[in-house]
Amino acid sequence: MLIGVGLGPGDPELLTLKAVDILKKSDKVYVPGQLAKDLVAPYSDAEILEFPMIKDIETLNSHWKESADRIAEEARKGTVAFGLIGDPNFFSTFSHLKKVIQKHYLDIELSTVPGISSITSFAARTDSTIDRSFEVSDGSEIMYKINLKATQPKKIVENLEAEGYKKFIFAERLFSDNEVIIRRKEEIPEKGNYFSIIYGKK
Ligand SMILES: C[S@@+](CC[C@H](N)C(=O)[O-])C[C@H]1O[C@@H](n2cnc3c(N)ncnc32)[C@H](O)[C@@H]1O
Repeated sequence: MLIGVGLGPGDPELLTLKAVDILKKSDKVYVPGQLAKDLVAPYSDAEILEFPMIKDIETLNSHWKESADRIAEEARKGTVAFGLIGDPNFFSTFSHLKKVIQKHYLDIELSTVPGISSITSFAARTDSTIDRSFEVSDGSEIMYKINLKATQPKKIVENLEAEGYKKFIFAERLFSDNEVIIRRKEEIPEKGNYFSIIYGKK
């Protein structure tokens, strides 16, 4: 089993209890760099896996595959955690790794544990309130939209479709006992709870 664990923005006190628990219990912990290794140090002696910042796709792919091979071998035997700065699903090294593992190692169970991302960390640290729609970009094309307060999910999906979005997820009361996650567009309801999100992907 392979778990991508968010370690938060860099403050050792901003790891979640769940992250700490998984780091302690894992048979092997990998990290992409020294900052992550230091954050993990109180709970595990993590190994750094280097991920080069190069543009040559072939070299990059072979490097990813090599790392994936090593991780897959360990993940077949026990629990492997991959700890990284921020959140594992936002602009993260783990997303690349996940793609390679999913392509070559279908038998390996994969999951992620959220971490406090640089986006919410920035707001807290700089006292910047965001209470209207906003854009997060790394300069690439906008491919996703997250719609909060999705009390009328079906209508939101129709509007997003008109904007060119093609895949949708409806998520309600996440991480609670009443959690609902709907991935089939046809099953997305007319009405949602206040604690609901629609995710759209182009
Ligand atoms: C590859 S992305 C990783 C994002 C990370 N997964 C997250 O959820 O925040 C790296 C970028 O995140 C931002 N970042 C991450 N940690 C940060 C921090 N502590 N302070 C400021 N920016 C940070 C910077 O813009 C950096 O270039």
